[in-house]
Amino acid sequence: MNTDSLFRPFSLKSLNIKNRIVMAPMTRSFSPNGIPGGNVATYYQKRAEGEVGLILSEGTVIDRISSSNDANIPHFHGEAALSGWEQVIKDVHGAGGKMGPQIWHMGVMDNHHSGWLPSEPFEGPSGLNRPGFNNGKTMTEKDIADAILAYGSAAADAKRLGFDTVEIHGAHGYLIDQFFWEGTNLRTDGYGGKTLADRSRFGIEVVKEVRRQVGEDFAVILRLSQWKPADYTNQMAKTPAELEAWLNPLADAGVDIFHASQRRFWEPEFEGSDLNFAGWAKKVTGKATITVGSVGLNGEFLGAFAGESSEPSSLEELMRRMDRGDFDLVAVGRPLLADPNWVKKIKENRTEELKGFTKAALSQLVID
Ligand SMILES: Cc1cc2nc3c(=O)[nH]c(=O)nc-3n(C[C@H](O)[C@H](O)[C@H](O)COP(=O)(O)O)c2cc1C
Repeated sequence: MNTDSLFRPFSLKSLNIKNRIVMAPMTRSFSPNGIPGGNVATYYQKRAEGEVGLILSEGTVIDRISSSNDANIPHFHGEAALSGWEQVIKDVHGAGGKMGPQIWHMGVMDNHHSGWLPSEPFEGPSGLNRPGFNNGKTMTEKDIADAILAYGSAAADAKRLGFDTVEIHGAHGYLIDQFFWEGTNLRTDGYGGKTLADRSRFGIEVVKEVRRQVGEDFAVILRLSQWKPADYTNQMAKTPAELEAWLNPLADAGVDIFHASQRRFWEPEFEGSDLNFAGWAKKVTGKATITVGSVGLNGEFLGAFAGESSEPSSLEELMRRMDRGDFDLVAVGRPLLADPNWVKKIKENRTEELKGFTKAALSQLVID
């Protein structure tokens, strides 16, 4: 199969990458007390050596006491954690790769199975993780203002340490998404409201602050999803017009690239067209987009947590959409978690060497 269009370079502001393949952000929980060590640096360096165009880090949390529910998830604040990240980007650049951290605040969470808890309650727009499940506090306007600043300073640190871009995690039911969603945002002040556009204020202010702190020339990615763990069929935007009303203010606030998260990239977003989420995001905003979701695998990622394996599958449908210009970049998760050389194998058409994905890959940082 012809995969040439995956191997064209891509340039946007600070981001200059040799091909269209992005390593999707994947939480690994291998950073004790929030500090990424040499093993984490080597894990990313191996993906750079394996010719991934752009590596997005696992979600790494901003400077809020309750931004994480897991002591082994990396921080993106504090001297020790940031010096760990500095080593990561040095090693990735040394291997010819490009990288951005995915900056993250989880919002209101379930308690982690380890029993670890942050020293302050989880925080979110209304204390809710999902409808009917309150496990945190409602953020005050000061909490909101401080959280917005913390996203901004994490992005500024990414630039200062030498990263090529930054991704804001606005998807999958975490803090920014908790503001977007009517099921978790019951606020009656200016951060709530009846429409998605009203509830986007927090996300917009985060993007504006990130943009303010990194300047115009640094590429900013925003990851969004319609689905959330509490409702896989959820559609925040039910029509292209609603999608436009959601995304364009975010684009105006400073997003360069929308990372449109789906579990299966081939699923159409709205009736009457086969365009997927990334396809529609590009069409309504004119911005660059990243697609994602079961590229090169026959099973989706949430099944992986339940122990399901996935086998390699054809890239034909992906290439059809890519060649049609639906999106600019393609994020790949599990295949790159399990195999640092996935990109090389695709490029060299060594399909018989592709590994698929088994749950065993989750228990280690695979480096060969
Ligand atoms: C182990 C694992 C951890 C993940 N952690 C994150 C994360 O930190 N941030 C995020 O936005 N998505 C996360 N995801 C979702 C992936 O970025 C990606 O969207 C999903 O795996 C679908 O891509 P795939 O089918 O190629 O694996 C994670 C997925 C996996 C498998």
